[in-house]
Amino acid sequence: MELLHKLILESGTVLEEKVLRVDSFLNHGVDPNLMMEIGKEFAEYFANRGINKVITIESSGIAPAVMTAYHLGVPLLVFKKQTSRTLKDSLIQTTVHSFTKDVDYQLTVSRKYLTSQDNVLFIDDFLATGEAALGVVRVLEQVGAKMSGVGIVVEKTFQPGHEILKQHGYDVYSLARIQSLANNRVTFASDV
Ligand code: G4P
Repeated sequence: MELLHKLILESGTVLEEKVLRVDSFLNHGVDPNLMMEIGKEFAEYFANRGINKVITIESSGIAPAVMTAYHLGVPLLVFKKQTSRTLKDSLIQTTVHSFTKDVDYQLTVSRKYLTSQDNVLFIDDFLATGEAALGVVRVLEQVGAKMSGVGIVVEKTFQPGHEILKQHGYDVYSLARIQSLANNRVTFASDV
């Protein structure tokens, strides 16, 4: 996606050759025009798969996911990272380890909003190790819901997330694929 690639090159900064900071348009500041284009692109790619719900994990997945849900004409369900005091329903939970941030969290969703009838599309901002997506898979398995695709805004192809999800049989569609952040420079997979 041209606009996304342009913004990454213009405003992205590299942290220790492993992490791409995109705070100005995705993780802190959010560019609404970009989110609209992202949502349209995912909705076109994942059309005609019988998807009845888009899911994501708070917080940075929400903006691209809500626009995807809008363009698909289906609701969005946001998985929480901790049990809220106000969440009194019966819950489904699994522990996820974030390697990038070196913390564990409880991926949490209410049974009220996810059923065995659901056929979901998972949208997230970054794909690195794939731990978050595998946590989502474990939650879906607990209710018997189906996942018909994974849409990622920025994938780091030098980390194993995509390969692991592919091995599990999932179709992963990433809008920007970063092959390397070596020498503090962004190299897209298509550039090499
Ligand atoms: P995973 O996302 O593939 O499971 O990998 P990992 O466990 O390594 O990443 C955990 C968190 O770090 C996720 O955010 C993920 O989006 C973020 N992350 C991974 N690589 C990068 C990167 O290169 N740049 C940026 N900006 N973020 C990265 P999170 O904890 O869910 O945070 P948030 O959604 O609340 O922002």
